[in-house]
Amino acid sequence: SCSVVVLISGSGSNLQALIDQSLQGDLDIDIKAVISNKASAYGLERASNADIATHALDHKQFESREAFDQALMTLIDQYQPKLVILAGFMRILTENFTRHYEGRMLNIHPSLLPKYKGLNTHQRAIDAGETEHGVSVHFVTSELDAGSVVLQASAEISSDETADSLAKKVHSLEHIIYPLSVKWFSLGRLTLQEGKALLDGKPLPLSGVR
Ligand code: GAR
Repeated sequence: SCSVVVLISGSGSNLQALIDQSLQGDLDIDIKAVISNKASAYGLERASNADIATHALDHKQFESREAFDQALMTLIDQYQPKLVILAGFMRILTENFTRHYEGRMLNIHPSLLPKYKGLNTHQRAIDAGETEHGVSVHFVTSELDAGSVVLQASAEISSDETADSLAKKVHSLEHIIYPLSVKWFSLGRLTLQEGKALLDGKPLPLSGVR
């Protein structure tokens, strides 16, 4: 099975989706550890409940972004994961870090990239009058939310949509497309070549996947 380390900062519902699918036998991954930059993250409890090793590494205890990323890298590499999964990990990563995990680190971002990089994506999409919003899984590169897209899923924005209601819709899509992307990686079907995400050697993202 494919060894992974999952990085979180919060609730960890995407982590839970990965745990659930691997317990159901749909996903052949071995989650070696879950690491949070916030000790209070509920996702750490989800990991403990699933008998997964947990670590809290508080970024505020470090002098610089570089020092934090270096410590994080050392911790992750103790587990020798084939894949690093960012699942609601709310820290900007240094170039050294992203280069180290190039082609073996995925992120999920709550927008239809390249639209709405960064924070508060749901509110920004509503404010801009979008009729559609969604979520993207992508390989991580040094530029924020700019790596090659693996999978996207979209939801309609209704006329009475709020950021909360939209976040709920998007979350339920996240819990489908992230485990599927990880599954592709675990099977050796998903690769990054010359900065481009490929599935079975063919360019991603696919469109019209249901
Ligand atoms: C998810 O919506 C994910 O897309 C987002 O954080 C949430 C984490 O939820 N990630 C980002 O905004 C990354 N910039 P979870 O903790 O319940 O999985």
